Amino acid sequence: MSDFLLQRPRRLRRTEVIRSMVRETSISPDHLIAPLFVIDGKDQKIAIKSMPGQFRYSVDLLVKECFELYALGIHSVAIFPAIDSKLKKSDARESINPKGLYPSAIKAIKDALPEMVVMTDVALDPYNSDGHDGLVDAKTGQILNDETLELLTQMSVMQAAAGADIIGPSDMMDGRVGAIRDGLDSEGFSDTAIMSYTAKYASAFYGPFRDALDSAPKAGDKKTYQMDPANSREAIKEAMLDESEGADFLMVKPGIAYLDIIQTLEQSSALPIAAYNVSGEYAMVKAAAQNGWIDGDKVMQEMLMSFRRAGADVILSYFAKEFAALYRAR
Ligand code: PBG
Repeated sequence: MSDFLLQRPRRLRRTEVIRSMVRETSISPDHLIAPLFVIDGKDQKIAIKSMPGQFRYSVDLLVKECFELYALGIHSVAIFPAIDSKLKKSDARESINPKGLYPSAIKAIKDALPEMVVMTDVALDPYNSDGHDGLVDAKTGQILNDETLELLTQMSVMQAAAGADIIGPSDMMDGRVGAIRDGLDSEGFSDTAIMSYTAKYASAFYGPFRDALDSAPKAGDKKTYQMDPANSREAIKEAMLDESEGADFLMVKPGIAYLDIIQTLEQSSALPIAAYNVSGEYAMVKAAAQNGWIDGDKVMQEMLMSFRRAGADVILSYFAKEFAALYRAR
């Protein structure tokens, strides 16, 4: 028997010391960005039903949460605003109000905790009464590309002026990275980075997020701007465009069902790759764990590791805080 079994892979799995010696992939809180939801008001912390353990915070408590995250080793956050329905209009004008909730929240975090890296979301859906990421033509229902770019650019400049470190266009309009880069540079924000939602698919995994922001499209779906889940080469086309337009990071979203796309982009670009472990992925793990059907902590750690193995440098995940707490206690 031993004559022909020269290779016994199990030798390298025998003890934890040997296993860690040959472990190919690592993950730490350095790789994680925590998405957080902000609402108007004071002393508010409202649970999001479909995302157990996640909340909408008023600015004061958002800042407090940032301090907790920072102390645990999570040094980057991505902020998403839940806008009062009275302020949602078909022209999405509130998106560029420099006194609005969003720039105020960004500024409050940067004032209190300047070392925290703050990433933003650039899209009109939280502000648009139609619930779409771009402006909607009232007659045809079409999502208007070029008309939207001007608003996205102004929104980005406003976020940069409020102190944002990384601008995150998630709208999937054509040419938005170039328009935003141009706008930032001409307003003196050439050091503000862009993490483009490069390969963002028209996915049902965003359901709980749209509950959190009450931002689901009122009519139709997002298939005329977000990518078809059947496509892989198209992600390379989007990556080439974003890179040429000045993106600093390329993101793939959702994550778990799109690990092949993460690997494809990692192999076709020298830019850092980010993965968004989205709301539906979080909700599925939480629901199964609450039922006692899986070990939630272990599944979460395995899932986050799989993003790194596939080639992601950075991971946006609602599990960031829980991961960091387990990492610290390990
Ligand atoms: C808005 C936006 C969405 C997400 C991030 N930015 C929703 C959407 O495109 O409908 C989803 C995040 C998540 O599901 O966790 N453009």
